[in-house]
Amino acid sequence: MKNILVLNGPNLNLLGAREPETYGRATLADLEAGLREAFPDVAFDFFQSNHEGALIDRLHAAHTGGFDGVVFNPGGYTHTSVALRDAVAAVAVPVVEVHLSNVHARERFRRRSMIAPVCAGQISGLGAAGYHLAVRYLVEREFGMAPEK
Ligand code: DQA
Repeated sequence: MKNILVLNGPNLNLLGAREPETYGRATLADLEAGLREAFPDVAFDFFQSNHEGALIDRLHAAHTGGFDGVVFNPGGYTHTSVALRDAVAAVAVPVVEVHLSNVHARERFRRRSMIAPVCAGQISGLGAAGYHLAVRYLVEREFGMAPEK
């Protein structure tokens, strides 16, 4: 069984109520339930925090805790956080950066990700489907269907 950490950063606890025209009406709980339903053979750990240090601690723990991969939506920290980038770079576990919205089609400052260069890849603009595709990638990568990090 694969162990996948789904890590969500600041303001993603407000999904469903927050700017629904951009992020949709589904809540974070809906998103997590959808992943559990779609991947019954995956052991998920879900964690959301509005605090940079708490996210860093979970990335470190994913490394030592034997996780097979991390699906990470760093929220607004995507565009600013050297510390989160360093944490992703420091851990051996593969990390896929996910965004619900298409960050390349919005304000200019969202086009730059501090974190994507040290991730296995980035998925942006596909809504909740992006999380599903990231899990699928992390689950299948050992079968030679995806490049090594
Ligand atoms: C986001 C995109 C970020 O630019 C923004 O700050 C978020 C959400 C997304 O999922 O589309 O909080 O990561």
